[in-house]
Amino acid sequence: MYKMSEKPLITATQIAERLDTLAQEIKAFHPEIILSVLTGSYIFTADLSRRLSSPDLQIKFIKASSYGCSTKSSGKLEVSGLEGIDICGKRVLVIDDILDTGCTMESLAKILNGMGASLIKTCVLLNKESRRTVDFHADFVGFEIENEFVVGYGLDYANNYRTFPDIWTLRDENGK
Ligand code: IMP
Ligand code: MG
Repeated sequence: MYKMSEKPLITATQIAERLDTLAQEIKAFHPEIILSVLTGSYIFTADLSRRLSSPDLQIKFIKASSYGCSTKSSGKLEVSGLEGIDICGKRVLVIDDILDTGCTMESLAKILNGMGASLIKTCVLLNKESRRTVDFHADFVGFEIENEFVVGYGLDYANNYRTFPDIWTLRDENGK
């Protein structure tokens, strides 16, 4: 059984403040289309995209399911929703919730790189640098966090906790 930390790791107020500055960093890159990776980034995408508001900024949602690293023969990333999305010649901002091993974003970037975008930049709300198993770095990061499992603000454990406004740490019953 897992239980939530007593206090949020990152509060909704802290997230909102960081998103204000993150949006300024991203605006300098003038993205033309956002590709948001469901489901974990749905709240982050909604909040960030409103701060980027621009008449010609489009938004599309894709789904990525990771079964391990692309570098391993058994590993595979399944991406759906890319059909019919035209990123040719466009400046693309890929938004995901969290960079953990980095496998999801690395594989996704490889797929997108073959689709003719003029520039692709990646943005994650959270980065667990110590967990990285592949050489991948996001261009924009909301917060650096330790090697802890976090939930809330769109992030889930077995599809639960997503609707919590703050980000919480999940620990097992021994406090680990
Ligand atoms: P990666 O491919 O290992 O970088 O992990 C990608 C996916 O694993 C993320 O998009 C999340 O869906 C999930 N994930 C990794 N760490 C966490 C966490 O701490 N909380 C919730 N989901 C996580
Ligand atoms: Mg996810």
